[in-house]
Amino acid sequence: MKTVLTTGGLGYIGSHTVIALINRGFNVLIIDSLINSKSETFNNIEKILFNEMGEIKEKLFFRKGDLRNKLWLENIFQEFNDKKQPIEAVIHFAGLKSIGESILNPLNYYDVNLNTTLCLLSVMSKFKCFKLIFSSSATVYKIDKNEKISENGILSPLNPYGNTKLSNEKIIEDVFKSDDKRWKIANLRYFNPCGAHDSGIIGENPLINHSNIFPTILRVINREIEKLPIYGSDWPTKDGTCIRDYIHVMDLAEAHLAALIYLYENEPTYLNLNIGTGTGISVLELIKTFSNVNNCQIPYYFTEKRKGDAAFVVANNSLVIQTLKWEPKRNLKDICKDSWRWFIKSKEGSNFKNN
Ligand SMILES: NC(=O)c1ccc[n+]([C@@H]2O[C@H](COP(=O)([O-])OP(=O)(O)OC[C@H]3O[C@@H](n4cnc5c(N)ncnc54)[C@H](O)[C@@H]3O)[C@@H](O)[C@H]2O)c1
Repeated sequence: MKTVLTTGGLGYIGSHTVIALINRGFNVLIIDSLINSKSETFNNIEKILFNEMGEIKEKLFFRKGDLRNKLWLENIFQEFNDKKQPIEAVIHFAGLKSIGESILNPLNYYDVNLNTTLCLLSVMSKFKCFKLIFSSSATVYKIDKNEKISENGILSPLNPYGNTKLSNEKIIEDVFKSDDKRWKIANLRYFNPCGAHDSGIIGENPLINHSNIFPTILRVINREIEKLPIYGSDWPTKDGTCIRDYIHVMDLAEAHLAALIYLYENEPTYLNLNIGTGTGISVLELIKTFSNVNNCQIPYYFTEKRKGDAAFVVANNSLVIQTLKWEPKRNLKDICKDSWRWFIKSKEGSNFKNN
């Protein structure tokens, strides 16, 4: 049985990906410091897997700790070697992800987002683990036109968070070049992940970052926030609000699975792939769909544009479709329905925490 390490695997995207990996027969080790997630998520992942496939003992493991602790990380790789379940591949989600926070505290962002990767790459090298999928982001691109972005677009992030993602890609590429007969690497550049697992048992509930639109909508519905802020009403788009590419988190999880299988089945390679739907949705369209699908009201107000925002951020996803034979299966209505189910369920179980 192949063991895959997911760093940050109790976070939003990691937890959904763990489900997809185990369903496909991989063993998964999660490492997470819990800086932006809760240990209950581990029990919730187990619950979903138990409902879907029965007994899952000896398939899923969790070690709590900070990935920057190299000695500790080496011990974990050694432990899995010793029990004849060597870590063969890593999906590296761990990191900090708030653009706003990164502007206020860039040093912390550089420290966490770069040192986690440096430690990880060095330990992977030592243990001859050469398959890596890295969580990158559309923030690496220079975005100044209302056109879909392809992987060969200009790379020029607008904030420290984006800089850390691009720096990670550069480090990883240099490591690949140093031993290109062995490394198999995919940088996945996510667009706007949202939605939740269709069980409603796991979803997006960040402890420290509140800026993504779906958690904010849910907080409005939960009456923690009176109205949803919309940043700018005169963007050069069809209704004046920003256009984004919203991708269902389970489609994203399945993209990781497809990338992992691709790395297993192909020669050493270094890939950059956009993971998005290729469809642009405006903020007003999103609000309308969410309200209609879930029969609820989302009061909103217009406020000033945020520094570094762009009118139109949509993926050209033809490369990933062609390379991985993956494509998104879920649409905006599914995203809205699944977010709502997660919200209702977690409220019932008091999981949806007032932070
Ligand atoms: N969610 C998005 O909109 C989005 C978009 C593009 C890229 N990404 C990237 O995808 C990855 C996952 O995003 P997410 O939305 O699941 O974020 P998340 O915050 O929910 O998950 C990240 C996890 O990493 C853990 N972590 C952070 N620092 C750590 C450390 N030093 N050691 C061990 N664990 C640590 C956190 O506790 C958390 O559980 C991140 O790297 C993020 O930058 C996210």
